[in-house]
Amino acid sequence: MRHNFHLTGHAFRLRPVDEQDAAFIVALRQNASRFLNTGPASAADQLAWLERYFERQGDFYFVVEAIRRKTREGLISLYDVDSRNGTAQWGRWVLNPGSSGAIESALLVYRFAFDELALGEVRCRTLADNFSVIAFHDSCGLQRTGAPVMIEFDGKQRPAIEHTLPRAEWPHVMQRLDRLARRIASSIDDHWPSAKVSP
Ligand SMILES: CC(C)(COP(=O)(O)OP(=O)(O)OC[C@H]1O[C@@H](n2cnc3c(N)ncnc32)[C@H](O)[C@@H]1OP(=O)(O)O)[C@@H](O)C(=O)NCCC(=O)NCCS
Repeated sequence: MRHNFHLTGHAFRLRPVDEQDAAFIVALRQNASRFLNTGPASAADQLAWLERYFERQGDFYFVVEAIRRKTREGLISLYDVDSRNGTAQWGRWVLNPGSSGAIESALLVYRFAFDELALGEVRCRTLADNFSVIAFHDSCGLQRTGAPVMIEFDGKQRPAIEHTLPRAEWPHVMQRLDRLARRIASSIDDHWPSAKVSP
């Protein structure tokens, strides 16, 4: 949906996706196509997709930006928001190769879900052969819900692992991710040439 949420972290921020991002979305998703549904193949088709997305309630799509460099580094979404049950799913997660925004973009999407939308539980579903992303969620302290679930991927049913983060666990996960995000931000600052040039 067309929203106006901006979330700022230590080195990265989330801002709403807009029409100018269409070509960026196509290029970034094509680069990571193995684990993402095949989406629109051209900027024009992506624009048409975005027009439908802008009308869809409970769906929040963000661009991940590096704060200092002011560059787009990735995409992330919170969708299927059910405000009656207080639940949502997050995904459509992809970063430029070499980006160090993984921890902080995950942290910010959780912050959005729990602190801005006051949800009670967030889940994510990852294809069962996307081992590194499954390991990421495990290491953040999320629980697996049990046996693999089946999800539709490019029109076929594929096994996936579902992780959940209930609100009660959020403060603990937040502390952990925030500590890491701070550390990553300071290591980025160390490599940023103008960081050492002060007036
Ligand atoms: C999903 C995606 C955005 C994750 O980003 P990533 O940079 O690969 O994430 P990583 O798992 O490497 O984690 C980033 C870093 O944080 C570290 N890390 C992750 N969780 C950690 C934790 N809980 N504690 C400490 N460190 C942790 C990792 O070791 C890694 O460190 P490194 O860069 O020194 O190796 C990216 O892989 C991508 O765009 N993939 C293609 C699309 C995709 O699969 N999307 C998911 C669909 S569900």
